[in-house]
Amino acid sequence: MLVYVPPHSLIKHWVSVLRNEQTPCPIFRSAMAELGRLLIYEASRDWLPTVTGEIQSPLAVASVEFIDPREPVAIVPILRAGLALAEHASSILPATKTYHLGISRDEETLQPSVYLNKLPDKFLEGSRVFVVDPMLATGGTIVAAVNLLKERGVDNKQIKVISAVAAPPALQKLSENFPGLHVYTGIIDPTVNDKGFIIPGLGDAGDRSFG
Ligand code: PRP
Repeated sequence: MLVYVPPHSLIKHWVSVLRNEQTPCPIFRSAMAELGRLLIYEASRDWLPTVTGEIQSPLAVASVEFIDPREPVAIVPILRAGLALAEHASSILPATKTYHLGISRDEETLQPSVYLNKLPDKFLEGSRVFVVDPMLATGGTIVAAVNLLKERGVDNKQIKVISAVAAPPALQKLSENFPGLHVYTGIIDPTVNDKGFIIPGLGDAGDRSFG
């Protein structure tokens, strides 16, 4: 499994805004959206097939390269907090489909439960799928999400996980269960506390995004 923390000062900036307990809800949400834009930009580098050709500009014929619209690209935001991180995904990625997945974690047991599943029965052949969840803490949620994708015909190499903050327990679970998977995260934090919160982390990303 590859875990990539893009070395970019804008990514560090937006992670730092998110970390600040003083950041109010609307700013938190827009910082999360900006971070998502940058991480998806990095994760899509050299991953999306293109088509080339020629086009007439107002002044001359130019060689051009577009993202191939025949190649399926999907975004899977994990509700709730994934909605904020995925906010700009469909505007920077041409011709995507968004499939919402609602998963909440029991506060006592930390076990995930799926309360909304808008995934297709089967993903189109060759789909590339961005799974978007800001927090990878104990890893229960993201493992459940990736398993749902795999049941629908997507293999590990077709999936990129986008997160704001990742912690070692989640990264370990992902690497044990899904070799070949790629994770793009704003930062890796050292630990998860006994309540399942990443330390130092950002707090509860869902509550901080939506009040
Ligand atoms: C949080 C977070 C992740 C999950 C991570 O969601 O946004 O989805 O917990 O935890 P895990 O790695 O230990 O499974 P939460 O269940 O709080 O839902 P919310 O986004 O609606 O707040």
